Amino acid sequence: MSRIQKRLWGWILGVFAASLLGGASTGFAQPDQIMLGQSIQNRQRTEVDFPHGLHMETLDCLDCHHRYEDGKNVLDSAELEEGAGEVTCNACHDAKSDIDLREAFHHQCIGCHIAMRKEGKKSGPELCGQCHPKPKAATK
Ligand code: HEC
Ligand code: HEC
Ligand code: HEC
Ligand code: HEC
Repeated sequence: MSRIQKRLWGWILGVFAASLLGGASTGFAQPDQIMLGQSIQNRQRTEVDFPHGLHMETLDCLDCHHRYEDGKNVLDSAELEEGAGEVTCNACHDAKSDIDLREAFHHQCIGCHIAMRKEGKKSGPELCGQCHPKPKAATK
């Protein structure tokens, strides 16, 4: 292969790899839709289908993702990549932390939806059944 051909192949493979990651434009992979359901026994409610992509469009990454040092959010949004364990909420919010995982989600999700509604802006669900839909009878 000539040098030009090699370069061309490298470029084609690079584009292909980027498209596999689903983030061809940025090279980063951020999931568009996330099923939130902590693995606990005897769930009381259904899992939550979270439109991550929709939120990424209108909000700042650091409105939700954080790493606090001396009370300040020092997280760099460039660190937020799929598979980076630190970005998942349960990396820090578990049964031992002051704010357990369920509280972390409820406070963040519902808290923001209430605040945005009060500001008269387009917002999201606040009622239990809107986030935890009743299981479909047919699937039981
Ligand atoms: C409205 C809140 C919110 C906003 C805004 C937001 N995210 Fe997220 N993001 C989440 C939640 C919640 C999860 C799921 C975390 C979990 O599974 O514990 C998540 C998950 C992720 C993950 C996947 C982590 C993994 O490995 O599974 C990545 C990557 C990510 N976000 C990047 C971003 C980037 C980049 C932005 C800004 C462009 C952003 N997020 C904006 C709430 C948000
Ligand atoms: C690297 C560790 C870490 C990760 C990851 C993390 N948190 Fe936190 N979070 C903290 C700490 C520490 C505090 C307490 C900050 C304080 O004392 O003010 C906190 C506070 C909070 C609070 C209350 C204060 C506030 O910021 O409104 C909520 C709600 C919350 N986290 C939700 C989440 C959610 C949802 C996720 C996932 C998208 C997440 N956290 C990911 C460490 C983390
Ligand atoms: C920082 C603010 C903020 C946080 C945090 C947040 N949301 Fe939202 N959410 C919004 C806004 C704003 C909208 C309306 C977006 C739109 O329709 O353009 C919305 C809309 C929604 C919708 C409706 C989507 C639709 O198709 O109409 C769902 C479902 C939702 N949010 C779930 C969640 C869940 C689950 C969490 C927590 C994991 C969460 N949100 C956290 C601001 C937030
Ligand atoms: C804005 C969306 C939203 C609303 C509204 C909401 N939740 Fe949740 N809830 C979540 C998310 C996200 C989680 C964490 C992921 C998971 O494990 O389901 C969660 C977790 C839970 C859990 C722990 C998991 C389980 O099934 O045992 C319970 C219980 C729960 N919610 C009950 C409620 C009740 C009761 C209400 C109404 C008062 C409510 N939720 C309203 C999003 C929501």
